[in-house]
Amino acid sequence: MDRPQSRTPDDVVERVREATDVVQLVGQYVNLKRAGRSFKGLCPFHTEKTPSFTVNPERQMFHCFGCHKGGDVFSFLMEHDGVSFPEALRTLGERAGIEVEQRRARDAGQDSLYQAGERAARFFQEALTRPEGEAVRRYIRKRGLQPALVEQFGLGAAPNAWEDLSRALRQDGIPEDTLVTLGLAARRTNGSGLYDVFRNRLMIPIRSLSGRVVGFGGRVLPQPEGDAGPKYLNSPDSPIYHKGHLLYGLGEARAAIRRHEAVVLTEGYLDFLSLFQAGIEHVVAACGTAFTPQQAALLHRYTRRAYILGDSDPAGRRAAVRTAGLLLEHGFLVYLVELPAGYDPDSFVREHGAAALETRLREAPSYVASMKLLVDRRAGDLAVKERVVRHLLDDLVRVSDPLLQELYGKELARTFGVSDGVVEAGLEQRRNRPSPRGAAASVAAPMMAAAGVLGEAQQGLLRLGLSGPSWVDRLTVALDSEDFEAGAPRHLYEALRAAREADNGWFDRLETDADRSYATELALGDTPAGEPERLFNDYVAALKSARLEAAERELNGRLQAAISSGDRDTEELLLASLRELAQDRSSWRKRAAWY
Ligand code: GTP
Ligand code: MN
Repeated sequence: MDRPQSRTPDDVVERVREATDVVQLVGQYVNLKRAGRSFKGLCPFHTEKTPSFTVNPERQMFHCFGCHKGGDVFSFLMEHDGVSFPEALRTLGERAGIEVEQRRARDAGQDSLYQAGERAARFFQEALTRPEGEAVRRYIRKRGLQPALVEQFGLGAAPNAWEDLSRALRQDGIPEDTLVTLGLAARRTNGSGLYDVFRNRLMIPIRSLSGRVVGFGGRVLPQPEGDAGPKYLNSPDSPIYHKGHLLYGLGEARAAIRRHEAVVLTEGYLDFLSLFQAGIEHVVAACGTAFTPQQAALLHRYTRRAYILGDSDPAGRRAAVRTAGLLLEHGFLVYLVELPAGYDPDSFVREHGAAALETRLREAPSYVASMKLLVDRRAGDLAVKERVVRHLLDDLVRVSDPLLQELYGKELARTFGVSDGVVEAGLEQRRNRPSPRGAAASVAAPMMAAAGVLGEAQQGLLRLGLSGPSWVDRLTVALDSEDFEAGAPRHLYEALRAAREADNGWFDRLETDADRSYATELALGDTPAGEPERLFNDYVAALKSARLEAAERELNGRLQAAISSGDRDTEELLLASLRELAQDRSSWRKRAAWY
């Protein structure tokens, strides 16, 4: 996912890209037929009967109009084989006979971190088989984890000692800095030497999708007397570990996730291990952090149906609702799985068995329905109901797929006994003001969904920008970033502008799958009919006046607040700004009307 940016044109990435033909590459996996200037075939990333997967040789890009995945040769391989960017580059480099040396040098630092991670995992695994691993072995038995699972997931033991790991790894020539960077050891405050961070713990290695150890979760053992530290110690983020970007167990679970066309999300490493062992293999766990947009995008490669299986306590339920909102936004079908009070996924499956949990999964209510159950439990308290409906509307407005948004909207209306009209109005109102939950976290641009003039103008302009640098120049003069909807449209505009300045590619500047999907869809989609010059002027005028209108609404809101709080100075200032805005606006309105 992480691609290097701002390269020189003769950079190795560009050379590999130029040497690889997207039609040929994709053609190895997909049966492609020519269709006009493009090629079409059945999408390898989702199940379909009629081809909506398009490969365009001119742009050297692909896009599926069914599942919205898209990108260049590197993205294709990353997506198809589930590999990282460096791996895809290496593979395509070899294929093209281009030495990817330059990057090897840069990766050397990372390679030594990976090696140290592997070495540490082996140390913990070996310790588990030795006398000092006895306490952890006992705990593993108590938790019902079988030897085969312990082996498969490389579980280990951190000895109850201060320097065993550091000493062993130092002897193997691993530098102190590496151990500290990985959070395996810390420096003593009195100056010299290291001490082990993980002591007397069950060690759970965390592996990247390609199977390399990048970090650890260390669970404390039950102690007769206190002060054994926190229940879990987790490796810090490091150059090889970004805990918000990967999911525990995804590498092992992904085949089952594809097979079930669904994923079960848990919070704990042990929940994961327990479920996986019980045969529920389409499961992943977070790595000690709240669920992130990057994780949602990652999961979306494999499935769009998610079962959230949290603890049954209030904190667990709050986390589940938060995760549900995020997944909804990323186009998932979301189900909340309820467990009886006092259970977590691990204890439930151990006591009641996998079949009982599978029944609960099968019967899990959709997110909307489960929120209704929550209201019902409060005896239908109207205030709670109102709050929940508003919350759901806040979630729904961020759903980027218009069909999903509509389906959920209908379900919301039906479930809570309100009219479709009031749901639509609620969504419309929210589309017109910035999201109360912070637009920054949003990657799904509601713009893509809003079929209105604004969306059309924005997309039309970006399409023009994609068609050649001279249009990018004109866009840069006519519009600012803020004229584009926050999220994918704005990112694309900024990528086009920056690429033009640096005279290199725009595609690598897009950082998320959602951004890339938005871009390739525009790049390979139909171009609107009309004379480009005139379209450009129309679109610019429409966007400008819309932005000014939004600004006016915002100022008006603040003005009302200033008036009711009796803040005369602010009121004056706001009034002046509003007058100015109104002038700008009328001039743009007029321009928009000229054409
Ligand atoms: P058990 O409680 O032993 O069944 O383990 P669990 O993996 O099910 O953990 P739990 O449900 O208590 O917590 C969920 C996840 O939150 C864990 O897997 C950890 O990633 C994280 N976590 C829990 N406790 C702590 C803690 O004290 N510190 C940190 N940093 N993370 C924790
Ligand atoms: Mn647990």
